[in-house]
Amino acid sequence: MFKNYFGSEPQVRAQAPGRVNLLGEHTDYNDGFVFPTPLAYQTQVEASPSERVEAYAERFGEFRSRELGEGAQGDWLDYVAGCVWALRQAGLEVGGLRAYVTSQVPAVGGLSSSAALEVAVIRALRELYRLPLDDVQVALLAQKAEVEYVGVRCGIMDQMASSAGRPGQALFLDTRSLESDLVPLPEGYRVVVLDSGVPRRLAESGYNTRRAECEEAARLLGVKALRDVGLQDLPRVEALPEPLNRRARHVVTENARVLEGIEALRRGDVQRFGELMYASHASLRDDYEVSIPELDELVEVARKHGAIGARLTGAGFGGAAVALIKAEDFERFKSGVLKDYPKAQVF
Ligand code: GLA
Repeated sequence: MFKNYFGSEPQVRAQAPGRVNLLGEHTDYNDGFVFPTPLAYQTQVEASPSERVEAYAERFGEFRSRELGEGAQGDWLDYVAGCVWALRQAGLEVGGLRAYVTSQVPAVGGLSSSAALEVAVIRALRELYRLPLDDVQVALLAQKAEVEYVGVRCGIMDQMASSAGRPGQALFLDTRSLESDLVPLPEGYRVVVLDSGVPRRLAESGYNTRRAECEEAARLLGVKALRDVGLQDLPRVEALPEPLNRRARHVVTENARVLEGIEALRRGDVQRFGELMYASHASLRDDYEVSIPELDELVEVARKHGAIGARLTGAGFGGAAVALIKAEDFERFKSGVLKDYPKAQVF
């Protein structure tokens, strides 16, 4: 607690959740569609104003401090200092903060613990400095912090899911217009996270390579972004040189899967939504090549134990998968998965 550590009451308290993405992977930096849902796990920031950026992170058992205006140092405080930096860059009048950070977001690859921290910090700063920021502006500033200060070239999905997502609903987001719609999760079903236990390997370089391949494919197709290519254009996409043809095919079919998946959920066809999740995984594995054997195995284990759909979630290269199951099956599903894949964490 802030009080125990710093000896006074914090002026504000804010929090923000991690997320799991149900459908629409590697589409956000192609101006496409995504469909994430916030996790029940949050990151909390208790804060007071300060002339510096200083924070204690309970997870790391560590206090760190930095002057306003100092650059990134490759540590966890970058995510806090980056938010202050992004707000100041945007011309907002903010000083520093003294923060106490706690988090229940599992430190598992693919659940956006960094976006949860950024959004919670910006929400705390919004209250501390009385800033008129809405959910979309909070997400954009959080992304700016991550891209320009921390130096990770992410899209907008994670920060939007954390900032504009609501419990029990999934966020249908058009990452070009940033228009979004909340879609209720089907009743009687449960979204389950399956951690493969394999840390992400070479995720950043793989991610940046994929982004570059997509940009090149869009250039060759003469469009602004792959979002502008549809299923009817697949023959032209498939005529691109390897591997751009398969990278672009993933993005085109994935965007179509998001649109179809939402229609399926709206008419109550959960089965079809699940099939689209499995198809998304196959596309990420074969066309986009961001899966690993352990995630492929986990998805098959989930299928064997009755998941309606399952796929890797987040950037891939390790980390977690997501499954959709009947809520009443949870205990049976969990023990079945753990028997076949003992290294998993199921929650
Ligand atoms: C990471 C990025 C997101 C998105 C996903 C892949 O989570 O932060 O912006 O690109 O990978 O869908």
